[in-house]
Amino acid sequence: MMNGDVIDPSILNFQHVPVLLHECLDALQLKQNMVVVDATLGGAGHSREIVKRISGGTLVGLDRDTTALRFSANVLAEAPNVEIRLIKCNFCDIADIVNSLGIHQVDAILADFGVSSHQIDTVERGFSYTQDAPLDMRMDTDAGKTADSVVNGYHESKLADIIWQYGEERYARRIAAAIVKARPIRSTGHLVEVIKNAVPSGYGKTGGHPAKRTFQAIRIEVNQELESIQKFLDGAIEILKPQGRLAVISFHSLEDRIVKQTFKRAATDCLCPPKIPQCICHHRASIKLLTKKPICPTIEETKSNPRSASAKLRVICKL
Ligand SMILES: C[S@@+](CC[C@H](N)C(=O)[O-])C[C@H]1O[C@@H](n2cnc3c(N)ncnc32)[C@H](O)[C@@H]1O
Repeated sequence: MMNGDVIDPSILNFQHVPVLLHECLDALQLKQNMVVVDATLGGAGHSREIVKRISGGTLVGLDRDTTALRFSANVLAEAPNVEIRLIKCNFCDIADIVNSLGIHQVDAILADFGVSSHQIDTVERGFSYTQDAPLDMRMDTDAGKTADSVVNGYHESKLADIIWQYGEERYARRIAAAIVKARPIRSTGHLVEVIKNAVPSGYGKTGGHPAKRTFQAIRIEVNQELESIQKFLDGAIEILKPQGRLAVISFHSLEDRIVKQTFKRAATDCLCPPKIPQCICHHRASIKLLTKKPICPTIEETKSNPRSASAKLRVICKL
């Protein structure tokens, strides 16, 4: 849908190094004429290599970020002999979106969760705790909820729960209380100062920036990231062809836990509690796990792209 749009020159410097690129390409076992979904198109770092391997096939690229789609439309316009369908949407709707294109089963799906380097490095989008910007953090800039509405609008206890659950931040209650006291907070710089003043001095000297966990938590809440991942995984498994492959890269333990548990459940025949002598759930495995342990970046990749350090790739095959 974005093909043919006039390209805004400000997006031409879109920088994002694809993570675990060769591992993903190997995992997806791409061949000519395949139908592939890249559920997190970003800067098409993975997709520009995918299209080289599926001549005669179709690439469906999804992203909720208009800038990413516009940039990628330009990159992929040069793909020879591959039908490119780019859609602005939340990947949680993958099954409905793909069906609405008249495609009912796909050969391979890739998801590379989280934010792109371009999103983090575009200061005014407010993802970074290292530069001052308005409190935004939306991946989809048309969406209603912003970091400002969370920081300035949520009840203290809800804010504390979010910072605790999504940031795994041990000083969540203190930080939430300090935020409520300092309202209104209108910029990332002000929020960082409030967080720094709420935690013990010296906190963050070893475990990263003191605002890192709180920023992660607010970003997850603004973009409803974990709910989207769960729904995406269910939909992706549903639309895969038998023998089709799904490769998923996660970047923190909350994402990886959802992926691991969903795959484990889908790969298991009976889900009855062990004390029940005979199966009454009639659940049947629909996938096979191809990675018992996740694939992680090599030391070389981590050195050349430090943002890849926490990446974990899990791969399944539909039965
Ligand atoms: C890590 S980047 C992907 C980078 C891409 N693989 C590349 O190499 O260029 C993640 C992308 O997924 C998008 N994204 C994250 N969550 C999404 C969701 N729920 N629905 C649609 N897109 C999403 C973000 O906007 C971002 O562009």
